[in-house]
Amino acid sequence: MSDIRIEGVMKEGNRLFTTVTVGQSESVYGEKIVHKKNKTLRAWNPYRSKLAAAILKKTNILCSKENKILYLGAATGTTVSHLSDILIQGTVYAVEVSPFAMQKLIELSKKRKNILPILADAFHPEKYRHIVPEVDIVYQDISQRNQLQIFIKNIENYLKKNGQGIIMVKARSINVTMEPNKVYEEIKQKLQQQSYKITDYKKLDPYAKDHACIVVRRS
Ligand SMILES: C[S@@+](CC[C@H](N)C(=O)[O-])C[C@H]1O[C@@H](n2cnc3c(N)ncnc32)[C@H](O)[C@@H]1O
Repeated sequence: MSDIRIEGVMKEGNRLFTTVTVGQSESVYGEKIVHKKNKTLRAWNPYRSKLAAAILKKTNILCSKENKILYLGAATGTTVSHLSDILIQGTVYAVEVSPFAMQKLIELSKKRKNILPILADAFHPEKYRHIVPEVDIVYQDISQRNQLQIFIKNIENYLKKNGQGIIMVKARSINVTMEPNKVYEEIKQKLQQQSYKITDYKKLDPYAKDHACIVVRRS
């Protein structure tokens, strides 16, 4: 079961799971809990989580159990909860601007101690300077016109040298009239102009229509 290189993530056919640690076997967003060979697994739905979609599409994403991840656009914690399964010795710093979504995220963080919820606008990364350290990964899933600017600001503030930046680009939010492939190319060019090395790029159809995942490395 598995050709996935991220410890704690398993694949069976086209289905993805994260391994649950003791005491965390509750369903978070209605996903199935499965028991296999003394392990408890949570189904990871690629239609609900762009990170799951990117992993299923074999995007070159490195993540290990002790990593620190700055997650921008955490919403109610669907994807964050799976990162919490993976980061058994690490932390996910989960930034979300909506107070409504934050309520759920706070509840989740009470049960999962490696989630640190931060109610803030990711456009102002200096606002969480006192909470967030240098991180291994900056992950961004914010469907806003200025999502690239927000991503770069956070990389510049928090990503360690050689760290990974992962952005889930929503073409229609950036430019509703432009053909999605053109939007992705523009974003890639702008990232390269900032001296980031693009290490992978995958379109996320059919799981997330008109979305792409771009992975960069900070030199
Ligand atoms: C597509 S949803 C994220 C889904 C989530 N990443 C997941 O996979 O479970 C985008 C989220 O970004 C949040 N958001 C939008 N602009 C933001 C900003 N400037 N700072 C922080 N969060 C923002 C929205 O409130 C929304 O919850």
